[in-house]
Formats: sequence, C-alpha cells, structure tokens
Amino acid sequence: MRKFGLFVAMLLVALMATPVLAGPIVLKFSHVVAVDTPKGQAAEYFKKLVEERSHGEIKVEVYPNSSLFNDNDVMVPLMTNSVQMAAPSFSKFTKFAPQVQLFDLPFLFNDVDHLHKVCTGEVGQKILDLVGTKGLVGLGYWDSGFKQLSANKPLLNPEDAAGVKFRIMSSKVLEEQFHAVGANPQVLPFSEVYSALQQGVVDACENPLSNFYTKKFYEVQKDLTMSNHGYLGYLVVTNKIFWNKLSDANKALIKTAMDEATVYGNGLALKMDEDYLQKVKESGKTAVHTLTPEQRKAWQDKMMTIYPKFYDVIGKDLIEGAIAAGK
Ligand code: LMR
Repeated sequence: MRKFGLFVAMLLVALMATPVLAGPIVLKFSHVVAVDTPKGQAAEYFKKLVEERSHGEIKVEVYPNSSLFNDNDVMVPLMTNSVQMAAPSFSKFTKFAPQVQLFDLPFLFNDVDHLHKVCTGEVGQKILDLVGTKGLVGLGYWDSGFKQLSANKPLLNPEDAAGVKFRIMSSKVLEEQFHAVGANPQVLPFSEVYSALQQGVVDACENPLSNFYTKKFYEVQKDLTMSNHGYLGYLVVTNKIFWNKLSDANKALIKTAMDEATVYGNGLALKMDEDYLQKVKESGKTAVHTLTPEQRKAWQDKMMTIYPKFYDVIGKDLIEGAIAAGK
C-alpha cells in the first residue's frame, strides 16, 4: 500500500515536471453544403489563409455536407465550444435570435448591392450586436444567392402553389411566406431534402442555384421558377469561449482572413449563380421558367402581406431600416 502511495506521488511529480506540449489551436468549422458552393469555397479559403498566416499555430478543420452536424443541431455545440465556427443560414438563428429572420422576408432586397448595404450598415451591425448577446461572435456575412422555387409543375402564378408541400428551413417568416400563397410548408434539415423530394414527403422547395445543383435537386424537381423571391445568406459565427481565449494577434489574424474570405466567397456567389443555372439547363432534367413582370408582382403582392406580422418579432425599425437602404 505504501509502495503504491509512493508510486502515485512519483508519477505526479513526473507529470508536473513534463512540459505540456502546446498543440495547435484547433478550429472546427461545420457546415451543411457541398464544397463547390460559395460557402464551401469561402470556408476552404479561410482555412488556407489562417493556416498559412499562423504558420500552423491555428489548424482549421472544415466539415462540409453536414458531416459533423446537421443544420440547427450545430447551434448548441457551437455555443458550448464543441465546434468553434459555423456559417448557418439566417433562418437557423430563429430560435436564439428571431430578429435575424429579417433576412428571410420575401422580396426585401432589390438586388445584391441592396443586401450588402444592409449587412454593412446600421441594420447589419445591430444584428451582429444581438447575436453577441447570445454567447456568439458574428464575424461576417456570406452570400449564397437569391432563392428560386422548384416543384414538379411550373409555379408561375401564386395560385399554382396552393396545396403544394414546400420544404422550408426553420423560420417562422418562411412558414408565413408559404401560407400566404396557400401552400403547406414543412421544416426539414437540408441533408434530408433530396430524399424527401424523391419520396414525395414534400413536393417542392426554395434554394439558390448552387444548392439546387450541387445537391442534385434537379434530378427530383421537374420545374424551376426563377422567382428571386428571397435571399439565402449566412452569418459566420464563432463562440465567446473560444474567441476570448485567443491572443489579440490571433483575433486580428482570424478577422483579416475572414474579411478576405468574405470578399472571395461573395464574388464567387455571383459567378456560381450564373454557372449553375447553365448546368441545371444542361442537365435536361429541369425546365427553367422565367416570370413575367406581372407574375412576379402577383407573388410579391401575396407574400409581402406577411411583413406586419413580424413587426414585433423582428422589429419594425430593422425592417424599415433594411427597406430604406435600398432607396
Ligand atoms: C438550407 O437549409 O436550405 C440552407 O441553410 C443550406 C445552406 O446553404 O446552408
């Protein structure tokens, strides 16, 4: 017994004397889309910049295609620091910061420039501050693109959506948007959309072209309407537990790399939108429909009726601020 006690004491002394091998700082970046998308590419570029500039002191592990966490499931691991970074789409913040649903409002943005003005202006800053009160640190806004409607029939007039089951992300705004045209929205994680469409669990969905093509939704949707009715973008976030432990130099390094990755990814988003539209057409599996101005206005008139329902949840000031940035 005595011998054992001595052994334990010696072991403790030995352990204390052993220098702690400082490994690299590991930053796990979880996302749900394919690598060949604006988010996928921006994440890879961010990794490259951070690893090069930190000379290996920071190791960025990127997990695409929901390979680490699925959709909303990433929020808790992110807040508790099992994951250090994610770029969830705005809708995925609904539970923690419902104001972020601002970006889900249909027909809110005239174009990408308008969206960027909102993100880099007062409204965008307010959203970042808000997310900051939830244990997260917002590092940037990344683009995907305008969403297009798809189904197994042409959706040209809002009446065509009546009774159609649409897969949506978990956002009350998206739910109301589809109720406004008499459709049946159903929340599903992104990783389940293909099989849900294939098996008829849902009939339709809304996606930017990069997601529509890279997840092969064109194989299971016969019609795509270029509706540009809403925007899909991301808020890149880390958590305060991880962030507050970083040195000032590493914080600056990560911020600079993030700014550069944002410019890189957002540039790609515009180009990919064109390229993937071409690829969808070339697939020969999905007919692409363009709306007449009258048809587009009919969708707009129906869907925009939901705004007042969200004055309290999102904040009338944020909604009006976002609209004003486009004038
Ligand atoms: C979705 O669930 O449709 C999107 O959030 C996927 C994405 O682009 O992150």
